[in-house]
Order: sequence, then structure tokens, then C-alpha cells
Amino acid sequence: MPASVLIEGLSSDLSGYGFIDGRKISFPYVSRRDQVEFETIGRGKRRYNKILSHIKPTNLEAGCEYFSKCGGCKGRHISYEEQFHLKTNHIFEYYNNNFNIQLELVPSKSTENYRNRMDFAVFPEAIGLRQEGNFRKIIEIDKCNIQSEKANIELLKIKEIVRQYAFNRKTLEGFLKYITLRINSENELTLILTFINSFRDTIFEENLSSELKKVSISENIIFCYNRTQSEVSAVGEYKVIKGKEYFREKVLDTYFDVPFTAFFQPNPNGFLPIIEFINKNLMGISRKSLVDLFCGTGFFSLLFGEKFEEIIGFDIVPSSIEKAQEMTKNKFPSKKLNFEVIDLLTLKNLGSLDVFKKKDVLLLLDPPRNGIGMALAEEIKKSEIETIIYVSCNPRSQIEDWEVLKEKFKIGRGLITDPFPHTPHLESVLLLEKRND
Ligand SMILES: C[S@@+](CC[C@H](N)C(=O)[O-])C[C@H]1O[C@@H](n2cnc3c(N)ncnc32)[C@H](O)[C@@H]1O
Repeated sequence: MPASVLIEGLSSDLSGYGFIDGRKISFPYVSRRDQVEFETIGRGKRRYNKILSHIKPTNLEAGCEYFSKCGGCKGRHISYEEQFHLKTNHIFEYYNNNFNIQLELVPSKSTENYRNRMDFAVFPEAIGLRQEGNFRKIIEIDKCNIQSEKANIELLKIKEIVRQYAFNRKTLEGFLKYITLRINSENELTLILTFINSFRDTIFEENLSSELKKVSISENIIFCYNRTQSEVSAVGEYKVIKGKEYFREKVLDTYFDVPFTAFFQPNPNGFLPIIEFINKNLMGISRKSLVDLFCGTGFFSLLFGEKFEEIIGFDIVPSSIEKAQEMTKNKFPSKKLNFEVIDLLTLKNLGSLDVFKKKDVLLLLDPPRNGIGMALAEEIKKSEIETIIYVSCNPRSQIEDWEVLKEKFKIGRGLITDPFPHTPHLESVLLLEKRND
């Protein structure tokens, strides 16, 4: 049965909400005072409210023809200043009201063309991004405003060449599953195409490779192969078609060689406030060892390792650890270094790791979205560690981890910044110090 609700406010995830019989009900892509007609569809977990019409519809074009159709941006219809306030205010209030800590809030300087990596799904009927709310449906995308101009030109150029190789997930015909575009701060573009394994060493591969070399404007082209059922892009066995298998990135004065498979901050410029926060706070801290957990290719170790006698880093991705080891050795040849592949989230006997028995350590944490988890948080509490810098791409899971760590640590300072305008995502950093009491 269709129903109607007046949107009364906006939430931190940039959706809008109203009330029916006292029950809060939320919708994406709406503004305050929109009147929304909707119908509740499906059952159980699949139950959702489908918008039938807006009586005062929000401007859904909002600078992008795909806005509200693709699942990427959530807040283009809201001014950037308001987006930032909505995203950060509840976190600011949490630390302020409960711990009397006022986090520094740093909005983004640029709101478009900021992402250095985009992954586009390739289906026979469309090449683009997943439809809002439907993982199996793809929206054809010719231009994405949050990636660079150069990546947009490349996307348009290569789409028509690669389309004939599209993999059909139902009939299992075809080969190509994903197009990944990664660009560095010097405008060097890397094109990674992810195929099913059977594409390797075929005549089709040879043809596509020679056609791409003529048309593509990417400095590096990589073909990557993985299992038919895998929906992971830019992971697996690979061939370098042009250029090299890693790209060079520069942050402040430090260079990073990033393997095409490895994580790198998706918006290095937007991440600078976090780096400056760490830099400033490190000035007052003198420790012997840096322990960089979830270290990736050694981003923080390379930026801040100078101050320490010893650097230890753990991550789950072997190619990242290899690169971290190589780059830190080049930069700090006389320091004691130890980079290892370790699964920090499921390892059973975390406590047996030497790092938790060490004294005089600065612990740097930069976990994936779900945070460091209970086991690691408990281990840190039991350890000799006195100072932690905890960087997070999800301040909500950081709060959950903080709720465990607060028994043994207090917050020195903290900062939130926004490398991801128009989306609900943020980056935050906390300086934690062991309690004396
Ligand atoms: C937010 S990234 C941070 C990487 C790095 N600090 C940087 O700035 O480039 C999170 C890292 O956690 C790693 N990771 C994910 N799951 C992990 C696990 N279970 N154990 C160890 N590392 C993991 C990822 O490979 C990734 O490098």
C-alpha cells in the first residue's frame, strides 16, 4: 500500500528521514521538506521502501547525470558544507560529550576529480558501476566526476574496444570482468583489466593487447586473471602489456612504488591533514620502535620511520609486504627492519607475537573498514605499548575499538578529515596514551 512521509531531517549517511506513527523511516537522495510517496516491498531482510514519487523532488542531477542511479555518491544534492557537518557532527559530539575531547575538523579542499582509483564492472549489457541497491545490475558510465579527467578520457576510449570481450555471468561466455583505472599525482595512468583465467595466452588476448597499445593513453597496461566466479578486480596472476607492474606515487617528499594489486590512499591530497597531524604529534614523542600494523606497502613506515631505530610492519597482502620491505630497506639501510605477512584479524595466538612484549614502542594502526577487532584490541590492552596513533577510514568502527581500548588508554588529540566528498566516508586519527591511573 503506498504511503507518504515528510522528510524532516538529514542523517550522517546523507540520507533523509521522516516519521510515520512515531517510527523513523529513511530514504536516500531526499532533502528536508520533500514529501515522499513510497511503498514497502519484499519480506524479512529483503524488505525495503521503494520511492514512488517526490512531491517536491530534490535536484537529482546535482552535477552528475548518474547521481542516484549508480551507488557511488550519496550527497550531491546537499551543499558540501552541510555534507561535512552531517558526516562529522555526531562523531565530534561523541568525543566531546563523553570524554571532553574536541576533535579538529578539516573539510576537503576539492570536491571533484579526487579519487585515484576506480573499478568499473564489465557486463555484456553495460560497462560501469553497480546500480544503487542492486549488485547484479550495472549502470553504463561514460564519465565519473570523482575520478580524474585523464581516467575519464581513457574509460571512453577503451570501452568500445573491450566491450566485445565482456564476461557473461549467466552463460559464462566472454572473458573480461573489470576495468580498473589508477592514476598517480604526476598523472601517470595504469589500466588493469581483470579476465577469467581461460583468456590467458589466447588469440583473443593477443588481438586485444595490440589494439589497446594503439588506442589507450595509459602509461601502464596490465592484464590480470582470476577464477571464473571471483568478483575481485585487479587481483590474480598477471601480464604486463605495457609499462610496469607498479606505479610511483609521491606524498610530501617521499616516493612509493605501489604494486597494481596494493592498497594506496585513494585520495592522497585529501589525506594530508592526517599526515600533518601525525607529523606534528610525533615531534613530542620519542620511541625506539615503530610498529606499523595493517602497513600495506609501508606508507607510514616510509613517511615517519626516520625517527625510529627499528621498524616492524604487518599486513595480509604478500606483494605489499615485499614492497614495504624493499622500499624501507632502500630508504633506511642501517635500521633494523622486519615486515611480515600476518593475518591480524583471525590469527589465533596474536599474543605470541614479539611486538606485544616490546617496550618503548609507537604503535601505528590503520585497519580496514571493520576496525582492529576485539582480539587485537584486547592484545594491545595487555601489551607494554604506551602510545598509539590510530588512523581509521571508518570513525564508527574506530569508536567501537576505542570503547575496548579506553580502559587502558586516554585520548590525547584527534582529527577528522574528508577525502571522500559526496559519499558518507571519512578519515580520522586519534593519538592514544596509556593511562597512569
Ligand atoms: C586502510 S589500509 C592501510 C594500508 C596502509 N597503512 C596505507 O596507508 O597504505 C588497510 C590495510 O589492511 C590490510 N589488511 C586487511 N585485512 C587484514 C588482515 N586480516 N590482517 C592484516 N592486514 C590486513 C590491507 O591489506 C590494507 O593494506
